[in-house]
Amino acid sequence: MNKEGLEKISYGIYIINTQNSGCIVNTLTRVTNDKIIIAINKENYTNKMLKENKKFNATVLTKNTDMNIIQTFGFTSSKENNKYKNYKIEKDSNNIPYIKENMASLIECEVINEIDLDTHTIFIANVINTQKLSDEEVMTYDYYHKIKKGITPPKAPTYEQKTKGYRCTICGYIYEGKTLPKNFVCPICGAPATVFEKID
Ligand SMILES: Cc1cc2nc3c(=O)[nH]c(=O)nc-3n(C[C@H](O)[C@H](O)[C@H](O)COP(=O)(O)O)c2cc1C
Repeated sequence: MNKEGLEKISYGIYIINTQNSGCIVNTLTRVTNDKIIIAINKENYTNKMLKENKKFNATVLTKNTDMNIIQTFGFTSSKENNKYKNYKIEKDSNNIPYIKENMASLIECEVINEIDLDTHTIFIANVINTQKLSDEEVMTYDYYHKIKKGITPPKAPTYEQKTKGYRCTICGYIYEGKTLPKNFVCPICGAPATVFEKID
């Protein structure tokens, strides 16, 4: 199938925060007046937390969001790492943490249904409260890629493998070249050459 047409769909960028995890998503959509959906990869710890706790919040990233936040929340797992430890956090009305700085808004939600999509689960949620946090312009998926030069890891639903070379199995970064130097270090997550896998 030619998937080029799908690349014209636009998205925002969000952090989904649960009691014990947080991850970046682009697949948040408001589907009715007070309901949203998100698609979460089954291998993400946030998927397990959403199934167990049902409550979460989403923050809307602005163009000024520090790329380190996207690196931490989009390329590492809450299973091994307390992602909030280096950031100033606030708590929402359900006591769920969120980073306030450079976020445009906070959306508090409760899962009411799930749809199994093989690799991902779609969580359908009621919005129970929202708060505007700033008037800064929001970060779009396009802006993240074109201006911030960000990349999308394999667990994101929009991930497409296009190039040949070596892929970092930690964050998805692709080194384009026939041979990966032995002392190569991933420029995104700092992983060594030994964790790269060949792709073609
Ligand atoms: C730009 C961007 C968009 C992403 N979109 C999604 C998404 O929509 N759904 C998803 O499950 N993961 C998405 N991810 C990947 C997760 O954020 C990533 O796998 C994260 O490390 C999961 O963390 P966790 O294990 O703590 O839940 C995205 C990552 C980036 C950088």
